[in-house]
Amino acid sequence: MSFLFAGQDSTAVALSSLFCFIAANPSVQAKLVLELEEVLGDSENVEWRQLSKLKYLDWCIKETLRLVPPVPGIFKRAELDCAIVSQTGGKPYKIDKKTNLFLSFLPLHMDTQT
Ligand code: HEM
Repeated sequence: MSFLFAGQDSTAVALSSLFCFIAANPSVQAKLVLELEEVLGDSENVEWRQLSKLKYLDWCIKETLRLVPPVPGIFKRAELDCAIVSQTGGKPYKIDKKTNLFLSFLPLHMDTQT
């Protein structure tokens, strides 16, 4: 049941956003068509080994997920006293046990320091 609900809406949103970006960017669409023709040729079915060669499509999917994350954030609860250490310096951010947290992906995806 989890797979049905967790997998369906997230994938539908991701694909809808991807198709919107492709439709709004004809030069991107042209590059994708070229890559698909080069990698897939005349094959009727897409094979597993061909997927890893679709590099530009992979970038487009990742950029779509960065700009429009289908899940905008997640709730977590600290089970222990802990700290988040910044990779860019500064003091560790202390989090007490039983603190409820919301981790928002959008600012994270837009932060040029991470
Ligand atoms: C673009 C597509 C997807 C996105 C953006 C996405 C995103 C996420 C996120 C953010 C979480 C929460 C992780 C956490 O709380 O640590 C999650 C959990 C989960 N996702 Fe996805 N997901 C996607 C596709 C799928 C698919 C296709 C399936 C199943 C076939 C799936 C099954 C699950 C399940 C079962 C969980 C719960 C895992 C757990 O609680 O341990 N997701 N997903």
